[in-house]
Amino acid sequence: MMLRCVIILVVLGTSLSAFPARSGQEKRVFTLEDCAVGDEVRYTAAVLEYEPYKDWSNASSGDDILMTNVDFIYEAAKMAKEYGADIFVAPEYGVQSLDMYTNDSVRFQSLTQQIPDPSLRVVPCAIDGQVANFIAIRSLSCMALELEMYLVIDLAEQAACNTSQAPCQADGLSFFNTQVVFDRAGTVIARYRKQNLYLEPQFVPGPMDDTTALFTTDFGVKFSLQVCFDISFLHPAYTNIMEEGVRDVVMSTAWVDETPFLLAIGVQNGWSRGLGVNLMVAGYHWPEHTKLGSGVYRGYSDLNNLYSYDPNSGNELVVFPVTSCKTSPTTTKDLRNKNLPVITRPIKLDISSGNRNKEPRQQRTLHEDLSIYERMVLPPTETGETNSVSQCHDDGLCCHLTYEHSSSNLTYQLLTYSGVVKKGGDIYQIYEQVCAVVWCESENWRTCARLDLFEPPQDTFGPFNMQGNFSCETVFPVGLTRDFNLIPNSVYSVNSVNDSLYTMTSDQGTYNTMTVALFGRWYAKDP
Ligand SMILES: *[C@@H]1O[C@H](CO)[C@@H](O)[C@H](O)[C@H]1NC(C)=O
Ligand SMILES: *[C@@H]1O[C@H](CO)[C@@H](O)[C@H](O)[C@H]1NC(C)=O
Ligand SMILES: *[C@@H]1O[C@H](CO)[C@@H](O)[C@H](O)[C@H]1NC(C)=O
Ligand SMILES: *[C@@H]1O[C@H](CO)[C@@H](O)[C@H](O)[C@H]1NC(C)=O
Ligand SMILES: *[C@@H]1O[C@H](CO)[C@@H](O)[C@H](O)[C@H]1NC(C)=O
Ligand SMILES: *[C@@H]1O[C@H](CO)[C@@H](O)[C@H](O)[C@H]1NC(C)=O
Repeated sequence: MMLRCVIILVVLGTSLSAFPARSGQEKRVFTLEDCAVGDEVRYTAAVLEYEPYKDWSNASSGDDILMTNVDFIYEAAKMAKEYGADIFVAPEYGVQSLDMYTNDSVRFQSLTQQIPDPSLRVVPCAIDGQVANFIAIRSLSCMALELEMYLVIDLAEQAACNTSQAPCQADGLSFFNTQVVFDRAGTVIARYRKQNLYLEPQFVPGPMDDTTALFTTDFGVKFSLQVCFDISFLHPAYTNIMEEGVRDVVMSTAWVDETPFLLAIGVQNGWSRGLGVNLMVAGYHWPEHTKLGSGVYRGYSDLNNLYSYDPNSGNELVVFPVTSCKTSPTTTKDLRNKNLPVITRPIKLDISSGNRNKEPRQQRTLHEDLSIYERMVLPPTETGETNSVSQCHDDGLCCHLTYEHSSSNLTYQLLTYSGVVKKGGDIYQIYEQVCAVVWCESENWRTCARLDLFEPPQDTFGPFNMQGNFSCETVFPVGLTRDFNLIPNSVYSVNSVNDSLYTMTSDQGTYNTMTVALFGRWYAKDP
């Protein structure tokens, strides 16, 4: 039975000093402040926002498609190197494209690659002679060696099947969605097979072994890998953060954007900030198919982020310095090009990958079914006055909001939800707890965050203070504007007084707000 409690208290004339900038009780899961003196290290990360080449009509074999993309990745990695990158990340499906899955098994298999077992310390660049399904792996290894840079690449892997790990799919082979890491000598040092597949019938899930996602660099930083949908689950990166001391995560993705909570950049920034870890994400660029967004998010050092999220950007590179803490000694002489100026915007890549998509591109996003949420339209206030409201849902999550809403007559709603949410055409069920304020065109929930249908005028929401008594393991803050950018992290603070009471506070108000949310994941309650 659903328990509802909706309490509206209108408190007139409350002073805005109810919105302190920082409460002083800020609790971050991890922070660089815990790093011992002398163990701090600064490296440079590069992530590629990329629309892979996929045109079979002009390809005589799978190798043509693979190598067109590998050649592009080479040009992008070379440029990243000029800006001082130590580690370079390419998007999910970046070497084969999302069109790789056809019912033509010959074509499909021609796009898959053999990846050596990292424990064998193979340098594919050094292997001579013909090896089937190896051309991209060899070229990428040579690239890492030539550029003396760590390369993190996601591609479709074919492996001799081992039925104690995964079922055979064809000809004694299993296929995985795999991130492979090459070190500066071109050695394969990690091979992580995606555990949480998202509508990918061509692959089998990788074994539940989170240690395969770990690698340590010559600058002493230990990383975890993760691929796309993995970010919604405990494995592999979350577990490696909690149990293996990881504070830096590299992710390849071909995300599915969904309003109002799950735009790629909101999820990426929220995960980084909510856990207090650095997150480097390379995303597949295909705005017509809900795919957009890459960035470097520096939650561990609490520094600002840099991201690419523009349907008309074309291919872009984000290169940004990251501060972390060594877990092992540095074995490289120095981190290269330390004194290069920091580039504070994404770098456009003029080099073409052969795709000819017309601008302006049509960005598409999915829209969450908000009918299952507890909802309340937030009454406007007079300038300088505040309202306080509370709203609870189902099994005990209560959201409490104090706010000023006087700069416009736009409609904002308080949304509250605790329970199972379905994703991927109802195939996946995950348990969420959410307290959120969302802009809507009207009282009808179907108009919430529909920026594809409405063009509301500019305004400011807040100051505000939102809190919720969460029961879930982790709460991620999300702040998105109506032009689909991140609200700068400095505009709101996030605190957790103890393990259950989380707050999100803005003492200045947020400009053109689409979403401000405390988005919780309760992994243990997933069906
Ligand atoms: C097809 O391939 C040829 C030879 O590589 C190239 O010159 C041409 O531009 C390609 N056409 C398209 C549409 O990609
Ligand atoms: C592949 O075959 C299945 C089953 O026959 C069909 O439902 C699907 O649409 C096909 N996919 C493509 C890409 O042709
Ligand atoms: C198959 O997988 C099992 C369990 O992970 C492992 O112990 C075994 O060595 C694997 N066999 C081969 C041939 O790789
Ligand atoms: C959250 O607060 C409400 C109202 O105070 C309370 O009824 C509910 O039990 C609390 N939930 C949890 C999980 O503590
Ligand atoms: C909101 O304000 C605008 C501009 O002042 C006005 O044109 C519009 O009619 C108002 N809408 C409502 C629903 O009051
Ligand atoms: C968390 O703090 C709130 C407010 O101080 C308090 O009501 C609640 O009981 C605390 N919860 C836990 C689990 O300590």
